[in-house]
Amino acid sequence: MGDVVSYSREGEIAVITVNNPPVNALSLPVRKGLQDCFRQFAQDAEAKAAVLICDGRTFIAGADITEFGKPPEDPWLPKVIHEMEACEKVIVAAIHGTALGGGLETAMGCHYRCAVPSAQIGLPEVTLGLLPGATGTQRLPRLIGPKAALDAMVSGRPMPAKKAHAAGAIDELVEGDLKEGAIAYAKKLVANGAKPRRLSEESVDTSDIDEHFFAEYRNSIARQARGFFAPEQIIKCVEAAVSLPYEEAVKRENELFMECMMSSHSAAQRHLFFAERACQKVLDVPADTPKREVKKVAVIGGGTMGGGIGMKFANVGIPGVLKEINDEALERGLGIIRGNYENTVKKGRLSQEAMDQCMDLISGTVDYQGIDDCDLIIEAVFENMALKKEIFGELDKVAKKGAILASNTSTLDIDEIAACTSRPEDVIGWHFFAPANVMTLLELVRGKQTAKDVIATSMAMAKKIRKTAVLVGVCFGFVGNRMFFPYQREAGLMMLEGVPADRIDKVAYEWGWAMGPNGVADLSGLDVLVKVKNEWTERPDDPALWVVIEKLVEKGRMGQKTKAGIFDYSGRAPVPSAETAAIAKAEAERLGIEQRPDISDEEIIERLMYSMINEGALILEEGIAMRPSDIDVVFVHGYGMPRYRGGPMHYGDAVGLDKVVAAMEKYRQRYGDMYWKPAPLLAKLAKDGKSFDDWAAENA
Ligand code: 3HC
Repeated sequence: MGDVVSYSREGEIAVITVNNPPVNALSLPVRKGLQDCFRQFAQDAEAKAAVLICDGRTFIAGADITEFGKPPEDPWLPKVIHEMEACEKVIVAAIHGTALGGGLETAMGCHYRCAVPSAQIGLPEVTLGLLPGATGTQRLPRLIGPKAALDAMVSGRPMPAKKAHAAGAIDELVEGDLKEGAIAYAKKLVANGAKPRRLSEESVDTSDIDEHFFAEYRNSIARQARGFFAPEQIIKCVEAAVSLPYEEAVKRENELFMECMMSSHSAAQRHLFFAERACQKVLDVPADTPKREVKKVAVIGGGTMGGGIGMKFANVGIPGVLKEINDEALERGLGIIRGNYENTVKKGRLSQEAMDQCMDLISGTVDYQGIDDCDLIIEAVFENMALKKEIFGELDKVAKKGAILASNTSTLDIDEIAACTSRPEDVIGWHFFAPANVMTLLELVRGKQTAKDVIATSMAMAKKIRKTAVLVGVCFGFVGNRMFFPYQREAGLMMLEGVPADRIDKVAYEWGWAMGPNGVADLSGLDVLVKVKNEWTERPDDPALWVVIEKLVEKGRMGQKTKAGIFDYSGRAPVPSAETAAIAKAEAERLGIEQRPDISDEEIIERLMYSMINEGALILEEGIAMRPSDIDVVFVHGYGMPRYRGGPMHYGDAVGLDKVVAAMEKYRQRYGDMYWKPAPLLAKLAKDGKSFDDWAAENA
């Protein structure tokens, strides 16, 4: 390897350059290189000041996340930063791209910072379940004040250079060439006799802080930070920053950082960091696969989902046509879109002008006019195979050659749909998740004949409309719903055993789900679940399966939309329903189901989660998902599973697959083989003492 950090001199200014692609992460050679080069600078009598700059697309984007969880190797980043800061000669950080995490901490160890206007700085460690552990929690409050520093560290959001400049975190904005500008700035500092500014020698400005400050801050983030470990640790660090001398506070930061590093949360969140990048890669569809051009989109079906999809494209400037069956339905569809935009304008998150521009991009039709020149056509009608087949037959006639024909089916066989066209290679599943503006997942379903450029284009378009795409194969329910069915099945069976619906949901919520399984069922619509069950031809032969839901639908209890489902509703708040409990009791009697109302919280979680994990193992064996981590991305982005659990497969690994299998065997004894026989892959991994992660590494 060439030098990842190099030393050169331009007259009286030393230039220390980091070159560690792709993002100049602070791996061991970089830390060593920085230490060596700054020692050389200290010894170099000709050098009056130094500029720290990076090659490639960005300034240092943080510590090397791949090193986490392994024994730390010297020199440790805080040590390098302290050595740099102690230098008697001025050091200037020259920032482009993103100075993140340890990158910003290194820049704060420099005495001054300049940046190009397009740069961003931030401390995103919280997103990895960590805190800025290389003195960042002590330096940022000194630089921009404790409140702004807390906001930046607890949210993890990067700050644009101009804002950072206004806040005092960047001293100089450089228009034009960064290296030239940084050298000129360093020369100016030397000429003006500027001394090294050492943040560690400054105190935190506490003038805006009163005795209630931290308690109020904790309250203000309670909802968004629910369940997460790192935000509270960050607050404790800032408390230390305002109350302890620097050295002691840094020690405290280190202790709290190590607690984060050892936590299951950080392991889960780091796993997701890599999972979200891995899922963008499709082994047989390389990144340079040619893509089709998508300039105009059509959406068939103007319901909530269809309208939401149209909006996603309009938001990024791509015109779309919405097709409905008649004028009335079309008016309603366009009206919902308008209403959604108006609400966003009212909330101040969109300007009226931007809304008008988006609305101008969306047109409507009740026949196929205006669809013949669309490059991408997404069918988003309700879940019925016959209807979808009819639509794809029609699309085959009107769509231009090369148009991508996508179905927003949540369960159905893409190959069967594709077979209704003369161009199955152009057909793919685009499964969006409701609510489309909250859930970032897009399950892309690859049919047997789906062309590679259709996959590549779909992945690229997903990114463009800010969705996280995961490519999956054809089976009933694909990855997400197929695994959600057992989860919901267990919720239903526990209800039949006499466990109150609200208790199941409370335990699931406390475990971290955004909503319990019964609340989700009510939100999706119980009638929708019954329709899905009817379409599910290979469902388990079990009279108890979703039977409570079926009975509720017979009584007109469809969920939130009818203000009664598994729960009663006063407003949107669920209230336990006596009618549901009575139905569950009567059905349990009819089916001879033993009552076990007092099962432990642990059993509730095990039954919900392990049933899901087992299905995930089957999905991997069948090749429906490419990697266990893809499944994790599906659940975090599409189903409200908390990031600190890392997804179902990671959760299984974290618990230990041997423990998962042992619990399953316990339930198998009680309930039989139908649901609780471990999938062969799961059983084998457990027996060999391995994890899904090990399996993924072996099969990469
Ligand atoms: N460590 C190791 N690898 C990293 C990395 C890091 N900090 N940041 C990015 N990478 C890798 C990615 O995994 C990816 O690898 P791949 O090509 O094999 O999939 C590659 O670099 C490119 O990354 P992206 O695909 O994310 O590239 P983008 O251009 O889309 O984004 C970025 C660039 C904004 C820098 C983004 O990568 C990012 O947000 N990185 C993480 C930043 C971060 O969290 N820093 C804090 C680290 S923790 C820390 O510093 C602790 C300290 O306080 C002690």
